[in-house]
Amino acid sequence: MVSRKDTFAWGAIQGVLDIPEHLHAAAKAGGASAYAQAQQEDFCGERVFWLPGEPWHEDCAALFPADAVRALGFELSQAGQFRVYSTHGTDPHIDGDGACFVLVLANDGLKFRQGKQSHVTRAGEWYIFDDCRTHTVSDSKRSTSYVFLHHALKAAS
Ligand SMILES: [Fe+2]
Repeated sequence: MVSRKDTFAWGAIQGVLDIPEHLHAAAKAGGASAYAQAQQEDFCGERVFWLPGEPWHEDCAALFPADAVRALGFELSQAGQFRVYSTHGTDPHIDGDGACFVLVLANDGLKFRQGKQSHVTRAGEWYIFDDCRTHTVSDSKRSTSYVFLHHALKAAS
């Protein structure tokens, strides 16, 4: 029997949400300051920054499309929490959290890749990727930051 997960398009854009302008602006600002910090460290420090909790993160979490995610066979993992991260680019890597929800809040030119899927993700686009398989956020000469809402998922019960 082929399980749903074997055929699932990990990393494919599944939908687009309307990101209110003030949240997009806040995400851009958070990404810009994370980028400035990375620049100060000559890009030798962390590649992915967890932006510590701010009230606007909760407004982003409230956008979570629970029904659409359930229709794909997933729900939020109780073990996880919504977090906002910013990256200026990563090498191909594996983290080990399994299925993860990502909603891109702001993106200044970076490309997410997993398997056959790759996209210069636009703000508002969301996808589910498998953190236990190789994934990359590729930068370009002019790109700066890729800011996203993240939460671990589990198979829907
Ligand atoms: Fe990762």
